[in-house]
Amino acid sequence: MPQSPLPRVVVGSRNPNRIDRGLFPDGVDIRSQKEAVDSAERVVFAAVYPEHYYTLVGSATRLNSGEQSNAEKLAELFPESRVVKGFNVISAWALQAGVHDGSRQVLICSDCSTSKDTVLQLARSMGFSPMDVGGLCQSRDIEEAPLILFPSWGGQNNFHQLPLVTMNETLPAVALVTLALVYLPGLVAAVFQLCRGTKYKRFPRWLDHWLCRRKQLGLLSFLCVVLHAVYSMCLTLRRAAGYTLLNAAYHQVKADVENSSVGQQVWRSDLYLSCGILGFGVLTLLAITSLPSVGNAFNWREFTFVQSGLGYTALTLSIMHTLFFGWDFAFFPVAYPYYLPPMYLLALILPCIVLGPWVVIAQFYISCFLYCQYLIKA
Ligand SMILES: Cc1cc2nc3c(=O)[nH]c(=O)nc-3n(C[C@H](O)[C@H](O)[C@H](O)COP(=O)(O)OP(=O)(O)OC[C@H]3O[C@@H](n4cnc5c(N)ncnc54)[C@H](O)[C@@H]3O)c2cc1C
Ligand SMILES: NC(=O)c1ccc[n+]([C@@H]2O[C@H](COP(=O)([O-])OP(=O)(O)OC[C@H]3O[C@@H](n4cnc5c(N)ncnc54)[C@H](OP(=O)(O)O)[C@@H]3O)[C@@H](O)[C@H]2O)c1
Ligand code: HEM
Repeated sequence: MPQSPLPRVVVGSRNPNRIDRGLFPDGVDIRSQKEAVDSAERVVFAAVYPEHYYTLVGSATRLNSGEQSNAEKLAELFPESRVVKGFNVISAWALQAGVHDGSRQVLICSDCSTSKDTVLQLARSMGFSPMDVGGLCQSRDIEEAPLILFPSWGGQNNFHQLPLVTMNETLPAVALVTLALVYLPGLVAAVFQLCRGTKYKRFPRWLDHWLCRRKQLGLLSFLCVVLHAVYSMCLTLRRAAGYTLLNAAYHQVKADVENSSVGQQVWRSDLYLSCGILGFGVLTLLAITSLPSVGNAFNWREFTFVQSGLGYTALTLSIMHTLFFGWDFAFFPVAYPYYLPPMYLLALILPCIVLGPWVVIAQFYISCFLYCQYLIKA
């Protein structure tokens, strides 16, 4: 401001002696508030919180606490002054150091066009891009402007869902994909052996590494499932869940609906929870047998039965849990905001690829068995 076309800058303070002189550039006077205002030739900047405006008048005048903006309150306190609103969208740091980052735009409004022109010109000479937005009644919008954070993100923000709800979507998705990654290399290995026609040939290094990492991947998946189970049990303890329930009850009462239970949804929740719990139980068995002291008590066949047989059972139950959870949601357009599929559908891709060949083989065996039965009877 000292470099602007204003002839002289005087700073007003309740206690000028307390202010460190080095705080302002040379040529800036520091006086009492009254002296500063009296010596002003053109513009007085009021940069104090509205609760402290009374110190400018010198008495504890009560302000209208209605819907007025700060600028309107100031105009009410000083009826003989012409009030211009501006600069509140610029930080103190930018005013001091110059605008390097962020917007240069300064929104300005006033009921007096001459005063507004003076401030517009001043803002321009300070390196800002002033914008005339009209009369003082616009000051309400100007005062709201710095408080708005990405308004196009939508009315109600859902950031409160990050700690629990989003975690409880991410953890099970990671668990399911990781579980599929445990059983995928066995399948790839089998395909390699079939293609080569022998099992006495080394796998490529990447597959060897992958096969050796299955225990770690399995335990990582188990950890995610344990956390997911704990998170899921806490879902109903959330305050937001209580509000949702209360709101639903209120709407139900208002709509005069006595019983809002939907049979299909009851089936859905019971089925997905049951499959999830069973899957969790089987995975716990796998985790226990992976302890060396327990694993050593099994012979090779027993260990393979538990790890491979029960492992696939856990994978199947987990897929069923997720499918029952999704139910028919994926068939509605609402499931594809921004044209992206829901998380649970993406998490199902790899597990279904792993289980797919076994389903085909099982179908083949069942068909053969039924055909043999038919031949025997015939
Ligand atoms: C909670 C949890 C704990 C786990 N703990 C363990 C653990 O302690 N130890 C462990 O090893 N795994 C562990 N796993 C991983 C996994 O359960 C086992 O590796 C399981 O045996 C994999 O079964 P599979 O049927 O996919 O593969 P496999 O039974 O290994 O074999 C599938 C097919 O791949 C081929 N194949 C695989 N490896 C070879 C090879 N080296 N040479 C030749 N052919 C091969 C064969 O054709 C075979 O028929 C754990 C998983 C979980 C979820
Ligand atoms: N800081 C920013 O980046 C920024 C950005 C945009 C808008 N604003 C707005 O600018 C105004 C001032 O903000 P600020 O950050 O500069 O605040 P501040 O530093 O706390 O206060 C500004 C001045 O008000 C006086 N003051 C402090 N406490 C007071 C009290 N209890 N009674 C009377 N006067 C008191 C002080 O002057 P003396 O002690 O010398 O009298 C002080 O220098 C606010 O309306 C704010 O919303 C600030
Ligand atoms: C004790 C066992 C389990 C319980 C109590 C349980 C509970 C739940 C609940 C309540 C949900 C719905 C969450 C929501 O409303 O957003 C859910 C979703 C899900 N669960 Fe489980 N679950 C269990 C085990 C498992 C297992 C073993 C897996 C797989 C490894 C799994 C994978 C998933 C997946 C992928 C979802 C969908 C997440 C989403 O997109 O919102 N769960 N589970």
